[in-house]
Amino acid sequence: MSDEVKEIALELRRHLAWQESDGTRQILKTPGAPSALSAMAAAAPVAAPVAAPVARAAPVAAAPVVVPVSPPVDASRFSTLDEVRTELGDCKRCKLCSGGRKQIVFGVGNPKAELVFVGEGPGEEEDKQGVPFVGASGQLLTKMIEAMKFSRDTVYICNVVKCRPPGNRNPEPDEIQSCEPFLKAQLAVIKPKVIVALGKFAAQTLLRVDTPITRLRGQWRSYEGIELMPTYHPAYLLRQPDEKKKAWMDLQEVMRKFGKL
Ligand code: URA
Repeated sequence: MSDEVKEIALELRRHLAWQESDGTRQILKTPGAPSALSAMAAAAPVAAPVAAPVARAAPVAAAPVVVPVSPPVDASRFSTLDEVRTELGDCKRCKLCSGGRKQIVFGVGNPKAELVFVGEGPGEEEDKQGVPFVGASGQLLTKMIEAMKFSRDTVYICNVVKCRPPGNRNPEPDEIQSCEPFLKAQLAVIKPKVIVALGKFAAQTLLRVDTPITRLRGQWRSYEGIELMPTYHPAYLLRQPDEKKKAWMDLQEVMRKFGKL
């Protein structure tokens, strides 16, 4: 086995061990079939010695399908946000760890908040400061929170993905999937009365739907027994200020729930 193949096999072994131990993904094995690792390692090209007769490649059984599954987060596993943060560690579960992130942006605010805002993912400023929503859209979110008669200190703010996607691109499905258990754990620990899902990624991830945000917004939904209001993301509102009226209507619904209207 060449060094390169050994390195790939080792990397696969580490990755699969993590997937199996962590429970973040479930590996479906066909009964009696080789493990994903051995099938993939077997399928890896092996350099033949130059003088050796050309060996006919043995037929390789199709690698078992690896189906990533985001397991339900065991709420009883974590009783504090600190425990969730410790579990997240210096996360290397997805490619955002090597995409130029400066730091993980976990969340900020009141760990006992009745109201939680969930955004998409950190931008440049959030990545620098380690705090969600501190850039331009953060300033608008702060105004929205204050207009609702709350403050940043009384609510909790976090994102679907905890690391900045390079160039502020959208988070990709595998990145969302890796990070989602931590968002769920945060929400399970905080147990807010209401979640405001800011934009398509937060709303679609939490509700497990692919309905456009234009149709989701303004309608009460339920996430694990918690009332959830989808609305537009502040970054979208900065680009489309005319849509602020609709977002304000959504936020007023939330205020009504808290008797603040
Ligand atoms: N946009 C988000 O979705 N989250 C942030 O933290 C900042 C900008």
